[in-house]
Amino acid sequence: MHILVTGGAGYIGSHTSVVLLEAGHEVIIVDNLSNSKIETIDRIKQITKKELIFYQEDVTDEAAVDAIFSNHSFDGVIHFAGFKAVGESVEFPLKYYYNNTVSTMVLAKYCLKYGVKQFVFSSSATVYGENDVPFVETMELLPTTNPYGETKVISERILTDVAKANPDFAVSLLRYFNPVGAHESGLIGEDPQGIPNNLMPYITKVAKGKLEKLRIFGNDYPTPDGTGVRDYIHVMDLAEGHVAALEKLTPGVHVYNLGTGRGISVLELVKTFEEVNGVKVPYEIVGRRPGDIAESYADVSKAKAELGWTAKRGIREMCRDAWRYECGV
Ligand code: NAD
Ligand code: UFG
Repeated sequence: MHILVTGGAGYIGSHTSVVLLEAGHEVIIVDNLSNSKIETIDRIKQITKKELIFYQEDVTDEAAVDAIFSNHSFDGVIHFAGFKAVGESVEFPLKYYYNNTVSTMVLAKYCLKYGVKQFVFSSSATVYGENDVPFVETMELLPTTNPYGETKVISERILTDVAKANPDFAVSLLRYFNPVGAHESGLIGEDPQGIPNNLMPYITKVAKGKLEKLRIFGNDYPTPDGTGVRDYIHVMDLAEGHVAALEKLTPGVHVYNLGTGRGISVLELVKTFEEVNGVKVPYEIVGRRPGDIAESYADVSKAKAELGWTAKRGIREMCRDAWRYECGV
């Protein structure tokens, strides 16, 4: 298949492009490099020893998107492009609502114009809000605590309505849990600019001595050790989940959780990271971070039953590969 990968120079998009190319698909990436580097495109080629086409364009720019669609005959689109920093979305809501929802509408519009019928969308477990764990796809979505989360809810609704109005349009809404780790070559991974917001990149930078110590946000949650529980998923498993979703896509809207189904606490992750990599991660316990929930983990039975996909890599591999990438960059 010829697949347009938006945001393909970013963290999850680059790993998914590797898996797509290795599965024999043709990959066309469009990314404006607002949160990624051009080198990643060469790294994808280096890992796969395959060619791909890259456009440096903004997917909210209709003329640019129209031109890309007119140059190719796509079988499907995987839409990763978007902004993802929760805190920044509270400070600059319009920037987030605009980029994340307009990009979805523009891409859906040009899919319809050019007869592209398969659309895979990067959603997030954040859409479940404070539902009880494990999160199941059939749950009613509860309000998220930030504009970023709302952009995912709104994009899901937009795509659902587009599919209702166009019965041969096939949409897969993939709700990611917490992607971590890197390709095992160490050539691509997560490289956030400035001080990381997320736990794993913060841990690797503390272990490397680039940051002094980890601040653990709260140890008074109703969880086994009091720290927050999340469903961390290796980014390569997540990438493989996209290819499974794409290859099984049928008309209508399909929602899948992509996680491992297993919750890990902050302290468990820190201890495992130290043990696997033989390094120390100094930490202190501080107050809760506003907007955080106690627990988030997936019911993964639907993806297993319908896509034949399950996460294969465990928490030790996630820690090992995240550290390997940190040591290489
Ligand atoms: P990322 O920032 O590494 O990748 C996103 C890419 O999109 C970047 O390369 C950026 O330059 C590009 N981009 C942003 N806006 C664009 C635009 N208008 N036009 C063209 N390119 C644009 O982020 P990621 O972690 O790879 O996330 C990918 C997707 O998955 C995002 O939609 C994100 O919201 C979603 N998601 C991520 C997580 C996570 O924890 N990483 C969790 C749930 C969902
Ligand atoms: N944490 C710390 N210290 C840190 C960073 C995080 O203790 O420096 C804790 C958090 O309190 C939480 C856990 O580590 O308990 C994971 O935090 P992350 O920031 O790594 O991940 P979140 O689950 O908060 O958020 C992620 C994505 C969001 C997405 C959300 C739900 O970053 O984009 O999952 O899918 F919305």
